[in-house]
Amino acid sequence: MANTAVIGLQWGDEAKGKIVDILTENHDIVVRYQGGANAGHTVVTGGQTFKLSLIPSGIFRAGVRCVIANGVVINPQTLLAEIDALKDRGVRVDADLTVSSRAHVIFPWHMEEDRILNECPTGEAIGTTLRGIGPCYRDKIGRSHAVRVGDFYEAGWRERIVAVAEAKRRMLEPLGVPADSPALDAQAICEEYSGYAERLRPFVADTTQFLLDAVEAGKRVLFEGAQGALLDIDHGTFPYVTSSNSSGVGISAGSGVPGRHIHKVVGVVKAYCTRVGGGPFPTEQDNDVGRHLRDRGNEYGTVTRRPRRCGWFDAVAARYTARLSGADALAVMLLDVLSALPEIQICTAYELDGERTERFPDHVERLRRVRPIYESLPGWQREIRAVRRLADLPVNARKYLDRLAEVVGRPVEIVSVGPDREQTVFVG
Ligand code: IMP
Repeated sequence: MANTAVIGLQWGDEAKGKIVDILTENHDIVVRYQGGANAGHTVVTGGQTFKLSLIPSGIFRAGVRCVIANGVVINPQTLLAEIDALKDRGVRVDADLTVSSRAHVIFPWHMEEDRILNECPTGEAIGTTLRGIGPCYRDKIGRSHAVRVGDFYEAGWRERIVAVAEAKRRMLEPLGVPADSPALDAQAICEEYSGYAERLRPFVADTTQFLLDAVEAGKRVLFEGAQGALLDIDHGTFPYVTSSNSSGVGISAGSGVPGRHIHKVVGVVKAYCTRVGGGPFPTEQDNDVGRHLRDRGNEYGTVTRRPRRCGWFDAVAARYTARLSGADALAVMLLDVLSALPEIQICTAYELDGERTERFPDHVERLRRVRPIYESLPGWQREIRAVRRLADLPVNARKYLDRLAEVVGRPVEIVSVGPDREQTVFVG
């Protein structure tokens, strides 16, 4: 295995952090290339639980270089707090972390914009994580109000921030943000951010060329996707999506590494399905099954602690995102959460306007109208958290995995039966 990508194939929270942590052993570099502190990765290692938002989960392996690439939007305060928290607990960070000079910076006004947009939705709210992600990406695309990490090390950055803050004041005041809001105080923000920039200076580099050098020299690179493919800004359930390309298609734009250098894609799915925030979710179970999944799977947002919506595995969606992300194989996570259920359902097709379809709709309103067509499989009702070999799984659990692989059209390579690194079954 040379260069590998780990991509969530659902609506995020597929436990990708654990897979990245396991695969890091065979890689030299781990790259985050999209999203920001809206992501929350939990890694359990050596009996300790770590929660990361921006720093790649690879940071726990000494000598592995972790890169936050150009496609990530960075809140420097959050990043520095993560660095400090890791150091406090004895994790080596200084030599192992590199941050792109091209990455865009989140400012307090972005959080205000996120809050305002969330408060006055048209129809169902997107339910963002309120981390300023969407507004920062909007400024990146709009260019005029954007600030990149590298800007802090060039002359004139203070003047630029003062001008951007003034433009933001003109936009936000009519929306109810007072002119004297700390989120618009240019001088205070310049002081605060110049402190962040100095602390981050040793980490900042041209990661695009660093990564190109690395892949050309045969270094093994692991690309760590954040969120999931159904939240992809272009190919997901728009507008109930995040603001970056969170499917496999985002790797090249977000890192600068062309697709020809990506040799293997691991698509990560839960054994069931969850979604946090707004938007249609065809297999949602707003009932005892959903509550069971939420309780047993501890389905509460890592970042926001919001209860996640829970439902059955949606193979129509996963088949689509496995193709979209170029997944070669699947990692099926949280299989143990299904253990107590007498019967398990898989959605293998949709009924849309009276017709059966196996294709994922390209419009959110059509997705709202689908009715899932389920296949029912018997459960196994046996604890499986101690299982380490495929042959030791109950026969019904193996049948369930076989059927998932068949309906998604990709082989299952890894099965997770608990949060710890050891609670993993490697297939084949
Ligand atoms: P934003 O990324 O904060 O703009 O939020 C947009 C949508 O993506 C909302 O529905 C969020 O709940 C969802 N979202 C963002 N990041 C994550 C994640 O890491 N896991 C799951 N959902 C996410």
